[in-house]
Amino acid sequence: MSTFKAPKGTYDLLPPDSAKFLAVREAIAAPLRNSGYGYIETPSFETVELFARGVGESTDIVTKEMYVFETKGGDRLALRPETTAPVLRAVLQANLHKAGNLPVKVWYSGSQYRYESPQKGRYRHFSQVGAEAIGAEDPALDAELIILADQSYRALGLRNFRILLNSLGDQECRPVYRAALQDFLRGLDLDEDTLRRAEINPLRVLDDKRQDVQKQLTDAPLLRDYLCDACKAYHEEVRELITAAGVVFEDDPKLVRGLDYYTRTTFEFVHDGLGSQSAVGGGGRYDGLSEMIGGPSLPSVGWALGVDRTVLALEAEGIELDIPSATSVYAVPLGEEARRILFAKVTELRKNGVAADFSYGGKGLKAAMKAANRSGARYALVLGERDLADGVVQLKDMESGEQTAIGVNEIVAELESRLG
Ligand code: HAM
Repeated sequence: MSTFKAPKGTYDLLPPDSAKFLAVREAIAAPLRNSGYGYIETPSFETVELFARGVGESTDIVTKEMYVFETKGGDRLALRPETTAPVLRAVLQANLHKAGNLPVKVWYSGSQYRYESPQKGRYRHFSQVGAEAIGAEDPALDAELIILADQSYRALGLRNFRILLNSLGDQECRPVYRAALQDFLRGLDLDEDTLRRAEINPLRVLDDKRQDVQKQLTDAPLLRDYLCDACKAYHEEVRELITAAGVVFEDDPKLVRGLDYYTRTTFEFVHDGLGSQSAVGGGGRYDGLSEMIGGPSLPSVGWALGVDRTVLALEAEGIELDIPSATSVYAVPLGEEARRILFAKVTELRKNGVAADFSYGGKGLKAAMKAANRSGARYALVLGERDLADGVVQLKDMESGEQTAIGVNEIVAELESRLG
């Protein structure tokens, strides 16, 4: 027999664990829906060009991690490594930004693809829930997004996460800082690759994880000291608004992100129980992205939270989500006639909104009751030959074990009233 395996760096979401992923997505989406964000869905592939221009020609994501393919029609496409550039592309294409209703606030949920070396918490296929607020420059919008992410993590019961906050400046002050940082980096004892990176994208060097590099960076100039007055005031306002909302954060002047489109506000949610892949979510402002992909000026801000890593964070904190059992009633027919009667009752229960399942495959009582148990159902309905003759069915409370005979015609009303 040939056996297939999921591709390297991917895994399947299977019941019952998959319920956790759905619950996490729902917990992240709920505060967004409640705050004026509309649902958006874009294709899982886009032109390579969109990411090259949007995410950045020199980023690891674009140079090393994209799944690129050519279609039969000769188009060069990439599986999306992230969804901010696609969302902005979609908004521009549909002219949503012209409806006079800025910011356009949208949220999404879906698969992302990055050809990274797999390890715990780092996959080639993973999923994010994200939010983007497009077309407004207002510190309250940055604050709103940070507050909502914090709220969804707290609603899930997470406690051991931290929010790191920084400002990356704008096109006025960042170039000055960039030059100063480059000067500093040129004086260090760095390998060739890193020196090359210092020339192309010096801020990324600050993110180098190697200890000997970090040691040399202790006295590196900080962007914080180069921010122009407008960026400084903007950042201060964001800090005040989230502080007033009771959100605890840490200033991290060395925080840089792996995507090139960021300006001003940048942040990362990190969890301390996850080892090296500690970033559970991240985001920030991207005031120049629209112009980078050929659109008008549309200052925007957003984030994406990693669903896979959020689930790992829950596990690290030992949090069991309270996921109600999907099935309330489990029907166990013993024999042909019982099967027809109970199957009709299950259909009727379902039509009345009662979650019900059925023992298929002509199982015996013992195996069927095992399945009833596994289903998590609160009640089992057992219909045997003697019951049939009496016109009753045995209603078993799976919690107390208590069993009562009720009339076959009372099943729906009785269960509706018991289940409230
Ligand atoms: P990002 O920091 O690249 O940002 O990804 C956001 C989150 O996705 C990460 O914090 C992490 O939880 C998860 N993630 C990233 N790569 C992997 C991986 N290989 N395996 C598992 N999880 C992963 C963005 O994608 C931006 N688009 C966020 C954003 C939205 N910025 C503005 N708007």
